[in-house]
Amino acid sequence: MNIIQVKNYSEMSAKAADMLISKLHEKLNMNLGLATGGTPKGLYDRLIQDHKEHGTSYKHVTSFNLDEYVGMKPQDPNSYHYYMADALFNHIDIDVSNTHVPNGLADTPEEECRRYDEMIQNHGGIDLQILGIGQNGHIGFNEPGTSFNSPTHIVTLEESTRKANARYFNSLDEVPTQAITMGIESIMKSKEILLLISGEAKAEAMYQLLNGEITEDFPASILKKHHCVTIIADQEALAKV
Ligand code: GLP
Repeated sequence: MNIIQVKNYSEMSAKAADMLISKLHEKLNMNLGLATGGTPKGLYDRLIQDHKEHGTSYKHVTSFNLDEYVGMKPQDPNSYHYYMADALFNHIDIDVSNTHVPNGLADTPEEECRRYDEMIQNHGGIDLQILGIGQNGHIGFNEPGTSFNSPTHIVTLEESTRKANARYFNSLDEVPTQAITMGIESIMKSKEILLLISGEAKAEAMYQLLNGEITEDFPASILKKHHCVTIIADQEALAKV
């Protein structure tokens, strides 16, 4: 894993944007894997700014998001469909029909999971996957204990994950208990992975990732086996390393 150390959130976001934009210039029709949460928000802001100032185009880009809450309507402000439209898609020239987020309302969720993986593979796989990390080492919504061989699947969210994400909801009760997430195997098939880690709340996870063993109890640890991972981490996240 290649680790880039930066000062703070703003520098992390700027570095990530530079990396993504230069990859995009190399391959205009790239397949981008996208993440939600607070971490990539600054990156998306930078992409929007660059699109406005320098005209970088996303016309030929296809995107696949990592996850979505089960039972949440796309127009619900807490859905990841809504997050992506609001944080990025509505502000760049990407063709919305080329943006994909798992359908949390699918009648047969297992079928939706299969369809999602197939769709990614039929598009030739993900060229660059953006990842954040949960405090317990989760990636996407792959909680500790998830098999490293998991394809896209339905998960029951850990209480700690629901609490961490409750800041976006009116109360903890409103946070869904299940999600559809791209599996660890699906994520590992990405040709390249960019993991963003910022803030003191992630310092323990950062320490575990660098010093711990590869174990399903800490899902992000599998990234050590991927041949092309870059981590951009800020000083607070690196405080315990
Ligand atoms: C959620 C998302 C993950 C994200 C994680 C960390 O659970 N499903 O994809 O990486 O939270 O979120 P944040 O960046 O807000 O700390």
